[in-house]
Amino acid sequence: MTDQEKVKRLYIKKVEKLLKLNKAYFEKDNPIVPDSEFDELKKELLALVKQNPFLKKIKNLDNLIGHKPSIKFEKVKHAKPMLSLGNAFDKEDMIDFQKKIKNFLNITSHVELSSEPKIDGISASLRYEQGKLTYGLSRGDGVFGENITENLLTINEIPKKLVNAPEVIEVRGEVYIGKKDFEEIKDKFANPRNAAGGSLRQKDSGETKKIPLRFFAYGIGEISSEDFKNQTDLLKKLEDWKFPINSHCKIIKSIDEIEKNHEEIESLRSSLDYDLDGIVYKVNNLKFQERLGSTSNSPRWAIAYKFSSVKASSKIKDIVIQVGRTGAITPVAKIDPVTVGGVVISNATLHNEDEINRKDIRVGDTATIQRAGDVIPQVVSVDKSKRNKNSKKFIFPNKCLCGFPVKKEINLTTKKTDVVRRCTRGYECDFTAREKLKHIVSKDAFDIEGLGKKVIDNFWELKFIRTPADIFRLNYDKIETLEGWGKLSIKNLQKAIKDSKTIVLDRFIYSVGIRHIGQENAKILGAFFKTDKKFSELFSSKKRKDILKSLYDLDGIGDTQVKSIEDFFSNQKNSNIIQSLMTVLKIEDFKKINKKGKLGNKNIMFTGGFEKMSRSEAKALAEENGAKILGSVSKKLDYLVIGNSKPTKKKIEKAKELKIDLITEEKWYDLLNR
Ligand code: IVH
Repeated sequence: MTDQEKVKRLYIKKVEKLLKLNKAYFEKDNPIVPDSEFDELKKELLALVKQNPFLKKIKNLDNLIGHKPSIKFEKVKHAKPMLSLGNAFDKEDMIDFQKKIKNFLNITSHVELSSEPKIDGISASLRYEQGKLTYGLSRGDGVFGENITENLLTINEIPKKLVNAPEVIEVRGEVYIGKKDFEEIKDKFANPRNAAGGSLRQKDSGETKKIPLRFFAYGIGEISSEDFKNQTDLLKKLEDWKFPINSHCKIIKSIDEIEKNHEEIESLRSSLDYDLDGIVYKVNNLKFQERLGSTSNSPRWAIAYKFSSVKASSKIKDIVIQVGRTGAITPVAKIDPVTVGGVVISNATLHNEDEINRKDIRVGDTATIQRAGDVIPQVVSVDKSKRNKNSKKFIFPNKCLCGFPVKKEINLTTKKTDVVRRCTRGYECDFTAREKLKHIVSKDAFDIEGLGKKVIDNFWELKFIRTPADIFRLNYDKIETLEGWGKLSIKNLQKAIKDSKTIVLDRFIYSVGIRHIGQENAKILGAFFKTDKKFSELFSSKKRKDILKSLYDLDGIGDTQVKSIEDFFSNQKNSNIIQSLMTVLKIEDFKKINKKGKLGNKNIMFTGGFEKMSRSEAKALAEENGAKILGSVSKKLDYLVIGNSKPTKKKIEKAKELKIDLITEEKWYDLLNR
């Protein structure tokens, strides 16, 4: 190796380390080394470039150095959570979005949408009491935000006083930096969004003031009284209160208009002074919004329709397989590194075997790679004219990386064969196990900051963590000897792990990572088991049989879920691993949300369709009012609610036999004051 080559390698290694530290420091707010070490590394890098100017071409340090350390802000609970948005990528997704809304509301007429450019900045929530800005929060994790009032006060476009406003109102919107203003400071930040984020989280608001932050309002959180019926009325009202509203907001009535609007705004994009990454569509009628409500993370009444992705061309060097946490085998193309939309890509997903066959993708092919927003890069197509004559069709492996055969299962609902091959060994397969660990520490599960995917990979290789329980018995002295870990980062990790030991039952069930048991189903199961003691009965094969039978009573749980739970727990290794995890945790009982609701602690079931609402809405309303929804008529049932459209006679008869209260559709509306 030449000296130049050696310097280059050293430089790349150090840059990679800096990237990692920057990420921990600025994005995760969780420094993994002391400040002094951070500064030392920056100095070393600058010295290297000074002595070897050719390194500048490999990676320019300007964007990486110059951040100011961020600080911890006081955490404040949002009066109403700040949700995120689901994504749509094409017309089909938007048709699907509209269909779901109509089904939920049980209406056939078209639903009017408010279309708003999706500004790529940082969201903030501003609380006004008696017309005065009392505090402002960042989004944080959506439930708790950070108190960044001082910095928000430096933004001229944010009104400090509101005239004729409700007693309490929280205004939500996006803080951003104009593209022109960004030009002035671009040496210090990778892009305008990072600059806005970095600036908002400065310790010294004097520093924030130096950067010209701007604001667009798009919604509200808590409000003491409201007199608007539509999202568009709300935007007008916000404008009256002197908030900047994006001038490209409009009402959209049909799918054709959505497509036209998409093209129009996308073509405007480069001429606008702010970055957009799509268009947000919101159901305009606020009553409808309220009825639609939200799932665990995002509202049913809004979606972000992302702009088409950026594409690039590269050569497929190899096709390998990856194993997911449910054992799913995904083919991945290893490609010659290529920059797509400012990010260097060297892996792209090929989805599944059928997709490879359909597109006849082969090793050696020249491929078009696409990347859309935060989505995994994918291979769109290959150029067959550039193909080498000797190239061979790709044969999909029939074995997992662990060496055991993979199979395509039959979907119990559709009775069709799955497109995905799977390794079904659960924790017995090292590759599946490692992914399961990554799921366990993820945000919606144990949410252990500082224990991300890369750290899990590293700790797995070092055999520090092989099962979930190992997370809670880490030897921190050993970690301290590793590169990239300092006293501070270890202290943070230790605390994050300790805090995560107490977990609510439904969240725990989700964390276990049983296939087909996502957050919603985990809640249903949490409400059923109530305590970890009852949940532990799944470990005994005898008791499990009875439990699985009773799970069929739960609305939302069917053959697919029951079989998956059976498959998971009948695997002795899975059972042992979860059992041993439970011994180190404090699992709290399931918290019923609304015991005192109108239907508090009542078991109810629906039959037939309703005229004024869909089954999903009826279910959501019943749950909000404290009810548990059952899927079959049994003695446990308190009410059978009978919709006017095609109720099942058999169910009504059985309910009558068991002397269960019958509720007509009209009575149902009365009960809920609808
Ligand atoms: S509505 C529950 N409207 O996009 C509704 N969000 O991915 C949630 N954003 O965190 C937000 N422009 O930071 C909404 N006109 C707009 C928006 C917008 C940008 C951002 C916002 C949010 C993220 C969701």
